[in-house]
Amino acid sequence: MQRSSPPSSDPSAAKAGPRGPVLELRDLVTRFPGDDGPLSIVDGVSLSVASGETLAVVGESGSGKTMTFLSAIGLIPPPGRVTSGQVLLEGTDLLTHTPEQLRAVRGERISMVFQDPLTGLNPVFTIGEQIVEVLRAHRKLSRAEARKKAIELLERVQIPDPGRRVDDYPHQLSGGMRQRVLIAMAISLDPSVLIADEPTTALDVTVQAQVLELLAELREESGMAMVLITHDLGLVARHADRVAVMYAGRVVEQGSAKAVFEQTAHPYTLSLFRGVPSLDTDTAQDLIEIEGQPPDPAFLPPGCAFEPRCFLGQGRASCQATRPGLQPTLGTEHQTACLHSAELTATRARA
Ligand SMILES: Nc1ncnc2c1ncn2[C@@H]1O[C@H](COP(=O)(O)OP(=O)(O)O)[C@@H](O)[C@H]1O
Ligand SMILES: [Mg+2]
Repeated sequence: MQRSSPPSSDPSAAKAGPRGPVLELRDLVTRFPGDDGPLSIVDGVSLSVASGETLAVVGESGSGKTMTFLSAIGLIPPPGRVTSGQVLLEGTDLLTHTPEQLRAVRGERISMVFQDPLTGLNPVFTIGEQIVEVLRAHRKLSRAEARKKAIELLERVQIPDPGRRVDDYPHQLSGGMRQRVLIAMAISLDPSVLIADEPTTALDVTVQAQVLELLAELREESGMAMVLITHDLGLVARHADRVAVMYAGRVVEQGSAKAVFEQTAHPYTLSLFRGVPSLDTDTAQDLIEIEGQPPDPAFLPPGCAFEPRCFLGQGRASCQATRPGLQPTLGTEHQTACLHSAELTATRARA
């Protein structure tokens, strides 16, 4: 569905359209106070996602994936604060919005589904009441109309017998069904962007597959852009058009799923993806655990944050001296933040 977008505050921002970015983060920085000064938990993140496209965001736990998108939608927990950057949603910078404007945008134009389907639902209200509340907060609908729409939404997320289920309380539903209810709430206002933050981690494997299938179908039907934060490389291979890899609060590699899988240009990505040689993978496959720990944000090395764990750069003076930014590699659409990526891509090409 095409939506008329508000006038752009930034003339260089692409218009929302079938191919332009719907959501674009530019150099986003989010800080939390630390004992010895502010810590950049999100450290200059730039990424984008277009209509109808799925961007997978991968990286070890603690790399800043959740914080990046909470920052984008204005839900960063205090005392955290977005200190610089832009969050362009259909060309308008959300960081210039007042809290009221942000509340209006959330749900309506951008929404987020979280890992744990229990925390998102209120145990004392029926799921129907909760969906109705979301609808009526944003739309002029009578109770009866909103209830009818809630039942339609439950049907859309493939909850069986929605006319009866609408009066259930959250505890009467399985984890998978609760996640479907949260997805129903997230899409109830037809947003342009849906951010799914490890939406299936708390579910068992068969249910995971069904929920992802549902998300893929909804994305296709509606043409919305989807951000899928996940640990599962099988999912990345099957569902992602593009991939952004995060480490220590930064994007270290970004590109089409094909480029990132087949011409991996950052040693961190290569280490995470070891064992998943191609896009043809059909099974669930978690990111590989890399030896050593991600750095504590309070003690980031002065150079590349991955250097102490890197098979290519460990102990190299150049890597210890400079923290590389994202640069184009093998085509402008594919970017990596590694000084020595040429060595990697050359080795891979020979292999
Ligand atoms: N409330 C908080 N206060 C301070 N630091 C936090 C808070 N929540 C998370 N962090 C830190 O922010 C970093 C990124 O966390 P997060 O975005 O949750 O990572 P991911 O989603 O990639 O697992 C981590 O280093 C984490 O310790
Ligand atoms: Mg997270």
